Amino acid sequence: MIYQIYPRSWADGDGDGVGDLSGMLSRLDHLGGARDSLGVDAIWLSPFYCSPMVDFGYDVSDHCAVDPTFGTLEDFDALLAAAHARGIRVLVDYVPNHTSDRHPWFCDARSSRSSRRRDWYVWADPAPGGGPPNNWPSTFAATGPAWTLHASSGQYYLHSYSSAQPDLNWQNPEVRAAMIGVLRFWLDRGVDGVRIDAAHRLGKDSQLRDNPAELAGRRTDLDPTVRERFRHIDHAPVHEILRDLRQTLDAYDDRVAVGEVGIADLTRMGCYYGDGDELNLAFCFGLWRQPFSAVAYRDTIAAIETALPRHAWPAYALSNHDLSRANSRLTGPGDSIARARVTATVLLTLRGTPFLYYGEEIGMTDGPVPPEHATDPDGRDGCRTPMQWNGNAGAGFTTGDPWLPIPASAATVNVADQLTDPRSLLTFYRDLIHLRRETAVLRAGDYQPCAADPYVYAYHRHDPTDDVLIAANFSDSDRRYADPRLPARGERLLSTAVAGGDEVELRPLHLRPLEATVIRLV
Ligand code: GLC
Repeated sequence: MIYQIYPRSWADGDGDGVGDLSGMLSRLDHLGGARDSLGVDAIWLSPFYCSPMVDFGYDVSDHCAVDPTFGTLEDFDALLAAAHARGIRVLVDYVPNHTSDRHPWFCDARSSRSSRRRDWYVWADPAPGGGPPNNWPSTFAATGPAWTLHASSGQYYLHSYSSAQPDLNWQNPEVRAAMIGVLRFWLDRGVDGVRIDAAHRLGKDSQLRDNPAELAGRRTDLDPTVRERFRHIDHAPVHEILRDLRQTLDAYDDRVAVGEVGIADLTRMGCYYGDGDELNLAFCFGLWRQPFSAVAYRDTIAAIETALPRHAWPAYALSNHDLSRANSRLTGPGDSIARARVTATVLLTLRGTPFLYYGEEIGMTDGPVPPEHATDPDGRDGCRTPMQWNGNAGAGFTTGDPWLPIPASAATVNVADQLTDPRSLLTFYRDLIHLRRETAVLRAGDYQPCAADPYVYAYHRHDPTDDVLIAANFSDSDRRYADPRLPARGERLLSTAVAGGDEVELRPLHLRPLEATVIRLV
């Protein structure tokens, strides 16, 4: 399982109010290597590269240097070594679709129509009557068209996100070579893999044709049903690029590429795994759109399991730095922590690699960010408030003035309090992660859904030597769950409601309100 750190918000080592690499190093005990660590296998770090921070690091101005806000390359090396010493692998973000408009490549590209790197980005003349070359919208709500006029050269440049993030032209072999060089730079440094930002956006319609008229002006990334029909995104050229990236990774030992593939059509998403020669993992965002419901979870997983090719290993997340936190979103019966235990159990026992967004393990919710503190061009500040380490001023995150306000909930929702509380969400996550580590079938077994039930989502994980049942009661009343194919009894390995270790009756299985349980079938 992989833990996502948003570097600005996790731990501030130098007291400037913004998280950094030395802060991260000082907090590694939380993740691995200590008696009460969570026990994660790997961390994914959102960008910490040089950046003007218009999109908080996703606008990169030097891919091979650490932004001074976060520290130095030496700090990164120290973090990597310390993580490895604890058995934690490290994935870094790789942002291939665009750079910052202050990247030297773009500065050169915009210097004149005949500059050496002009063609490294996507330029087009104005439409015949004037205005942007076509009707493609930018992904960020506030920024309008995906085109900005560069007045002195009279052409528009393409930016799928903000105007400060011009899209690279991956059809230019020099761009490809330069960006593969970036990938090698980090692999040579010893990182274990990359999370590829906006992987699906690397290809665009080569003739820059309009999106269908009825979609004009619609935002792409918020509307999965229309996004598939945007010409702005052309999947065909992407696969060849991804094969190149994968070959680069495969020249090293045991590295991984997980892609952000923001498309809703699962069959098409399955193509991003290629024949085992493109992405190793692609994020399935299906779960984050679902309400807290057994039927919704079951159907979502069924659709993913059916659509992905056999060799495709899913990657699941309940939230990330772009999405509202699961604990704010998933309303339903009972208290939110009881619901969080249910979704945690499912996340950590599905067939796939689970990703945990920082703070989810203690039940953090979106922080209130008053308009005068809002910073993000796309309104995502709420899910990025500082990690709540303890109930003191600064929440143990910083001794300075935090870059986003620390939610008042830090007084009661924090790591220090939960670490010593056997009934806390953090303790439950730790038990669950340890169970997953110890139980091979939970990591690698097949997935088989059990009998459908309106309130209980139940499935097996199975391999030739082991068979484990997971049953999650999404309702706040007692349920008697029956599947005639289940054996009479099993051994309870873990439950949100009672201690594990005992024998349990399975015909029927009695589940308490909002109980999720893992049972070995014998
Ligand atoms: C991805 C990132 C998001 C960023 C965007 C542009 O969707 O997750 O945070 O704003 O790409 O890089």
